[in-house]
Amino acid sequence: MKETIIMNASTTMNPTGQIRKDLLNKYDIPAPRYTSYPTVPYWTENPTTEDWIDSLNRTLADKESSFAIYIHLPFCETLCTFCGCNTSITKNHKLVENPYMDALENEWRLYKERVPALKTTPIKELHLGGGTPTYFSEDNLERMCNFLLDGQSIAEGAEFSIEVDPRRTRKSQLEVLYKYGFKRISLGVQDFDPEVQRLVNRIQPFEETEYITNSARELGYDSVNFDLIYGLPKQTLATIENSVQQTIKLRPNRIAFYSYAHVPWIKSSQRLFTVDDLPKGEEKRELYELGRTLLEAGGYREIGMDHFALEDDGLWKSFQSGSLHRNFMGYTSQQTDVLLGMGTSAISESPDCFHQNEKLEIKYRKILGENKLPTLRGHKLNTTDRERRKLVLEFMTTWKVEVPDDLFEDVKEYLNHMYEDNLIEWDDKILKVTEQGRPFLRIACTAFDEKLRAQKPNGNLFSQAI
Ligand SMILES: C[S@@+](CC[C@H](N)C(=O)[O-])C[C@H]1O[C@@H](n2cnc3c(N)ncnc32)[C@H](O)[C@@H]1O
Ligand code: SF4
Repeated sequence: MKETIIMNASTTMNPTGQIRKDLLNKYDIPAPRYTSYPTVPYWTENPTTEDWIDSLNRTLADKESSFAIYIHLPFCETLCTFCGCNTSITKNHKLVENPYMDALENEWRLYKERVPALKTTPIKELHLGGGTPTYFSEDNLERMCNFLLDGQSIAEGAEFSIEVDPRRTRKSQLEVLYKYGFKRISLGVQDFDPEVQRLVNRIQPFEETEYITNSARELGYDSVNFDLIYGLPKQTLATIENSVQQTIKLRPNRIAFYSYAHVPWIKSSQRLFTVDDLPKGEEKRELYELGRTLLEAGGYREIGMDHFALEDDGLWKSFQSGSLHRNFMGYTSQQTDVLLGMGTSAISESPDCFHQNEKLEIKYRKILGENKLPTLRGHKLNTTDRERRKLVLEFMTTWKVEVPDDLFEDVKEYLNHMYEDNLIEWDDKILKVTEQGRPFLRIACTAFDEKLRAQKPNGNLFSQAI
């Protein structure tokens, strides 16, 4: 018998339309979030720096091409114990800010020397992420905008965005960035409950979040996103209700409502939690369902996986029109040929190659000091990878995908248990996720993931699906 995702599935349908508890338990298995395909643990065909540069030159030779830039600014003053991001914790701004800016400037200069088309190809998207980008002073943010954008071609309607931690953000920093075209801001909120905040080492009063939200809007930022997380220690239906209601009061245009990714084998600070304090499985999913109900009642629409937006927002419009895109930065309404990631651990992508930078800050700076690009690893995509990537991304962004003839029988058999459990449905060869099946979208995507299926994860690789 061929492999299927889960054996011994029950075929009983749920008469109430609610997600059955047994299904939540059955499908709460580790699965990738599919911000890329192949997913990072299955990258095998490592490119050299030269391969990566060739891929960029080939792609950007097309005069119609465009690109996005992601800059990783890894520093934070304190550690939030839930955090799964690549961060460096230090309060010593003097020691790290200028050397990091020097390295970034060098990296961008090297790219422009080796890929001359970067100077003339319009930037469609620029995103500052972290870590905490507003860790950097006004002067350093200004310096960075100058060296990045000076003489650079910028696409009409380009979107410039920044992730901020409201506890470490000054209005004057947002003012500098606004001058250079930043109009989108994403605030890390996570949860408004004081006890949950204490347990994750992130005390952030409502007034701080309110102040930065209002300040950004006063300056002219026209899109505000909040990041919330469900599944944090001691979160309950009551704390989620309060956090979502507080969120709705401030009316962000978009909301990312992330499932807490518990990966203590990668992030040891997550071992500080008492495991019993973490809502799991069914209990955790109820937190999401409540959040979703409240957000929908508040005028928000659910998009793809874990995301919400107001109806007049571009992300919702892209989702409706089927033009939503997904990359390492998450969901985006802009599609570009190249995503160029700079800074420690930043991941880049082109149609046929992934590339990741050195993760260790000291190593990253040292390599750039030698005038070399800080390649850590990557993956050269073959034809099958590219076909699979297209299918996975389409399914993740539209909740449906037409399965090619050569894969149809295999995918149908692999997903048969999800079909019997009413989590997916078929419209001829079009695979759709049902409303009940949305929490399990990433599990359904594994049907196209030939790498994961060929080589079952050995040990811990991914967080739980729920
Ligand atoms: C780079 S961080 C945030 C930016 C900023 N440093 C802050 O904390 O406000 C981006 C987002 O990732 C999310 N995140 C971090 N660790 C996570 C985890 N373990 N599980 C789920 N989401 C996580 C948080 O919602 C966070 O706001
Ligand atoms: S959540 Fe934000 S502020 Fe907290 S450690 Fe992670 S990146 Fe830094």
